[in-house]
Amino acid sequence: MPLVAVASPKGGVGKTTLVANLAVALVARGRRVTAVDFDSQNALRFLLLPDGPATPGIASCVAQGRPWSNAVITGPSGVRLAPFGPATAAERLFMKEQLHETELTDALSGLLRDDDDVIIADTAPGEGRLQARLEAIADLNVVVLLADAGSMALVPAFRDGLLLRPPRPQLPETFGVLNQVDPRRRLSREISEFIQQHNGGRFIGMVHYDEALAEAAACGRAVVEVAPDSLAARDIQQLAQRLDDLLPATQPV
Ligand SMILES: Nc1ncnc2c1ncn2[C@@H]1O[C@H](COP(=O)(O)OP(=O)(O)OP(=O)(O)O)[C@@H](O)[C@H]1O
Ligand SMILES: [Mg+2]
Repeated sequence: MPLVAVASPKGGVGKTTLVANLAVALVARGRRVTAVDFDSQNALRFLLLPDGPATPGIASCVAQGRPWSNAVITGPSGVRLAPFGPATAAERLFMKEQLHETELTDALSGLLRDDDDVIIADTAPGEGRLQARLEAIADLNVVVLLADAGSMALVPAFRDGLLLRPPRPQLPETFGVLNQVDPRRRLSREISEFIQQHNGGRFIGMVHYDEALAEAAACGRAVVEVAPDSLAARDIQQLAQRLDDLLPATQPV
């Protein structure tokens, strides 16, 4: 499954922002990308479909036994989005409790149109069952952390592969991304340097703290589209290239 799952034990670290921006950057690299929102906040749509109505999403597809392709809408940047959608408490619970690995794999496979398609999944903060199931079927797991003391405390668990789940050898590789790095702040600078030196390739990139990213998000756009020369846009491009290299290669036409 060409699935990139973006997760974090911490909330508010930039998962949704990175999913939207990486999806747009991967499309610019020639990938066909479907972004799937697994977080009931249903926030990914604000970044990929800013003017779109709140359409039904995957939560109601699951509850009604409909294919997730029914929820897909293509945004202005060319990214296909399967939003979480508005959902009742029962639908949210059903997603968490009843959607097991097989159903999840089938539903996501139904979104793929050919071998080159990539699915990038946004998840809710924390270590719930849905996150664990997604992690188990993903090609790549990306854990977002900040260059702060709270994230630093999680680094040993991350390095030992224990951050989101107990180690299982058959599980795919988990990579870290450090977000909101601010070299003007000594703590941020030193933590990011330390993490990059001591985690042997497990961190595949960092994204600077950059207002351009937040401002682009506020307009429902990706930073690579509206501020391509910004620090954050360059970081996102580099990260998209790393992901592109790690995912199965695009087949020549
Ligand atoms: N590199 C960055 N530079 C500046 N602002 C950023 C950066 N990354 C994220 N933000 C801002 O941080 C806030 C939180 O980002 P976001 O909603 O993507 O986090 P999240 O991890 O998805 O949160 P949640 O856990 O609630 O789902 C947003 O206002 C976003 O614009
Ligand atoms: Mg989010």
